[in-house]
Amino acid sequence: MSRVAYVNGRYLPQAHATVHIEDRGYQFADGVYEVIEVHQGALIDEERHLQRLVRSLGELRIDAPMRAGAFRIVLREVIARNKLRQGFIYMQISRGVARRDHLFPDPVVRPSLVVTARLVDPAKAGAKAAKGIRVITMPDMRWKRPDIKTISLIANVLAKQAAKDRDSGEAWLLDADGLITEGSSSNAWIIDQSGTVITHPVTNAILQGVTRTTLLTLLEKLGHRVEERRFSPQEAYDAKEAFITGATSIVTPVVAIDDHVLGTGTPGPIALNLRAHFHDVAPRTD
Ligand code: PDD
Repeated sequence: MSRVAYVNGRYLPQAHATVHIEDRGYQFADGVYEVIEVHQGALIDEERHLQRLVRSLGELRIDAPMRAGAFRIVLREVIARNKLRQGFIYMQISRGVARRDHLFPDPVVRPSLVVTARLVDPAKAGAKAAKGIRVITMPDMRWKRPDIKTISLIANVLAKQAAKDRDSGEAWLLDADGLITEGSSSNAWIIDQSGTVITHPVTNAILQGVTRTTLLTLLEKLGHRVEERRFSPQEAYDAKEAFITGATSIVTPVVAIDDHVLGTGTPGPIALNLRAHFHDVAPRTD
């Protein structure tokens, strides 16, 4: 089945869905995005994702392309037209099309909106989690506002590729003090030998992951001790377990960090349990 994309008011076969060469998303990476998981045909944590999208737009002073109600209908239409049961919805809003100039277009132009669907094979995703991933650490080269979910992702792209080049699935990024901020497309977590779950606090240095927020609820429900503070690579090497979270990774165990193998080098029981129960607590909307 060929996929269907929404582009500026029209639903088109993805192969024919295009944007203008003077779109500011293309020329300046002047835009924002969201990725929402679709699980059993329902949107996971839609509300928090849309709230974050509105915040990202506000921080970049881009107008919303349509009202929230209409936007929700577009998301559902893309899910329906792609018969999406398991996967993701990707949405991107750029400042719009204008003659290339760093300044905002004056008068303001209509923002561009693209929504696409990605089908995921749950068996493949499950197999990846059952094996766990390795991570590397490297300097965080991003701009100083990674709390905004912008499409300017070149530093993230280079970090992810550096990880792949070292047989790893994610790069954990180090701040100026050498402490871990987050992954190139996920939040970073460790569990120390006493069982305390540790993750970077919400500051401008990380994206406030929606999965992260929901997982904090689950951790509380399960009675885990949690510390939201920065941690060092050495603490990560000495950890009992580690994992990443994100809309595309849910909870994915980490089995080695910079060649330091954690425990037996297999996914830890706490991380696997959190993954197993994530969808019990995550809000879902049809
Ligand atoms: N990335 N940190 C970064 C840098 C991210 O890019 C992401 C998500 C997260 C986790 O956020 P959430 O739990 O809301 O997905 C943290 C998406 C999935 C992506 O870029 O594809």
